[in-house]
Amino acid sequence: MRSFAFLLPALAAASPLGQVSPDGWSDSPDPSQIQVVSASFSGNGCPQGSVSTSISPDKTVITFGFDRFQTYIGPGYSPTDKTKNCQLHLNLKYPGGFQFSVVESTYHGYAQLEKGITGTFYSTYYFSQDAAATTTTQTSIAGGGIWANGQVYTKADKIPTASYIYSPCGASGILNVNNRIALTTTNATALGEITDDDATVAFTQQLNINWKVCKK
Ligand SMILES: *[C@@H]1O[C@H](CO)[C@@H](O)[C@H](O)[C@H]1NC(C)=O
Repeated sequence: MRSFAFLLPALAAASPLGQVSPDGWSDSPDPSQIQVVSASFSGNGCPQGSVSTSISPDKTVITFGFDRFQTYIGPGYSPTDKTKNCQLHLNLKYPGGFQFSVVESTYHGYAQLEKGITGTFYSTYYFSQDAAATTTTQTSIAGGGIWANGQVYTKADKIPTASYIYSPCGASGILNVNNRIALTTTNATALGEITDDDATVAFTQQLNINWKVCKK
């Protein structure tokens, strides 16, 4: 088991916190006000019937399990096997006057990579209402060593405050998370895969949502 935590460079100065909006809401409302209303997904890494979804009772955390989000490279595999994506679409409801930020998401999977192969996992976060404002995290694993025999891995995104993606001010929004795993190689005879465990939810994703004052 090995953990990866990647910090993005700060993209902007931190927003002022600790303010109270004119209608009197504090900047830290009850987290139970956040609601993940529904979710959907699209992409060749998550065909229909291969994904399980669960939302926590307080609707602040959503977890996906993937059965077919798997990539392969090496002799006998098609070039199309070496990259897969699954985009998550989260329909969210929140009180007007506040914005929330994605603060943490965690991904688990399995990687078996011979020397010469690199596996990379990209996650791009953006709101449909402001699709030009994206934040992308990237984790890479170089094959060989402990990875030659296969290991479970964890990708943990911790996006710094200054680069949070803000939801639009309003009562609802769609947060998209485009996840992509890809394999590259410098050795045509080496084998590599990034996959999950069919018996358990080996690849899970959790999105925690944090609140900020809406800047008018
Ligand atoms: C390429 O990979 C194969 C299989 O892992 C290995 O036997 C061979 O030594 C590798 N060649 C180079 C140049 O690393």
